[in-house]
Amino acid sequence: MIYPIVIYGSQTLRNVSQDITPEYPDLKKLIDDMFLTLEEASGVGLAAPQIGKNIRLFIVDCTPWADEDESLADFKRVFINAEIYERSEETDLFNEGCLSLPGLHEDVRRPVAIRMRYMDENFVEHDEEFDGYPARVIQHEYDHLEGKVFTDRLSALRRNLLKGKLTKLSNGKYRCSYKTK
Ligand code: NI
Repeated sequence: MIYPIVIYGSQTLRNVSQDITPEYPDLKKLIDDMFLTLEEASGVGLAAPQIGKNIRLFIVDCTPWADEDESLADFKRVFINAEIYERSEETDLFNEGCLSLPGLHEDVRRPVAIRMRYMDENFVEHDEEFDGYPARVIQHEYDHLEGKVFTDRLSALRRNLLKGKLTKLSNGKYRCSYKTK
């Protein structure tokens, strides 16, 4: 099934999410459905809070960037109970959007590389470094698990300028091509 995507203003996007165990009910189906939902919305990442579940699960699909970086040709990954424990000092700007904030795109500064422990969809533990597009998307999705969205990372000035748009999102005044709630 394709899940409706939770929009900015919902408390679900502000809660800190909880770890899950391999016994989490119907996990494989949930992951498959998240990929379907992501594909339907033409996104590159989706975190469980965005479909109304405050659990530490997100998926990333970097294949749209395969033209620029062929190592991303099969980069569709599942991250469970992830913990970012190292971030590069070097940062860069990237124009981000979010399926939960339709119509908003802003340059966000983040570390260019991270190290992270996580489980994959089979609950196999990994400890891995990411940089480039994957590091960018992973950090964005990881923020969702912490109850943050990308606009929280903008300057106070920039956030203030976006206040009207954010209020409209909270009040359900937006248009987008995928199912929302
Ligand atoms: Ni997002």
